[in-house]
Amino acid sequence: MIIERLSREHRNVEVLLSILERELEIFDRSGRPDYEVIRAIISYFEVYTEIYHHPQEDLVLAKLEIRDPAAAKKVGSLALEHQKGSQRLRRVAGAIDAVLADREILRDSVDNIIRDFIEHERRHIMMEDRDFFPAALKALEPQDWTEINSALTSCEDPLFSDAAEETFDAVRALILQLEQEAEAERH
Ligand SMILES: [Fe+2]
Ligand SMILES: [Fe+2]
Repeated sequence: MIIERLSREHRNVEVLLSILERELEIFDRSGRPDYEVIRAIISYFEVYTEIYHHPQEDLVLAKLEIRDPAAAKKVGSLALEHQKGSQRLRRVAGAIDAVLADREILRDSVDNIIRDFIEHERRHIMMEDRDFFPAALKALEPQDWTEINSALTSCEDPLFSDAAEETFDAVRALILQLEQEAEAERH
C-alpha cells in the first residue's frame, strides 16, 4: 500500500532529522559532531528522497489533481517544494564539505543552513501527512492505485523493489548504529 509506505518513510525521515539536529547541537556548542553520521544522513536524503520518495508522491498527486482538484490545489506544487528541498539539501552538503575542508565558513551560517533544512523538511512532512495523504486516500479510486503501482514497477527500476527497501533499511540501521557509537564515545 503506497500511502502506508510513504507514511512509514516519513517516520523514518523524522528519526534521521532528530539525529541531524542532535549532531547540530554538538556543533553549536563548539564540539565535534560525528561527521560520518551527518554525511550518511545527507547521502540518504540524496538517494532516498530524490529518487525514491518524491517520484511516488508526484504520481499520487497527479491522480489527485484529476479526482479532487480542490484538494490537490490545497496541497500545492509538490514538485516545486521537492525542488526547493533538494536545493536546501545541497546547501547542507556544501556547508559540511566546507567545514571538513577547513574552508572559511561561519559557524552561524552552517547552523542556519542545517536548521533551515530540518525545519522545512519537518513542515513539508507535516503538510503531506495532514493534507495530502488523507485527501489521496479519500479521493483516489482502486484503479488509480493499480496504475500508480504498475507505473512504479513497469520501469523495472531496482529502486522500487523489496530489495531496495531492504537497502534503505540497512542504511538507516547503519546511521542509527553510528549515532549510538558516537553517543557512547561522548560519555
Ligand atoms: Fe514530499
Ligand atoms: Fe513525503
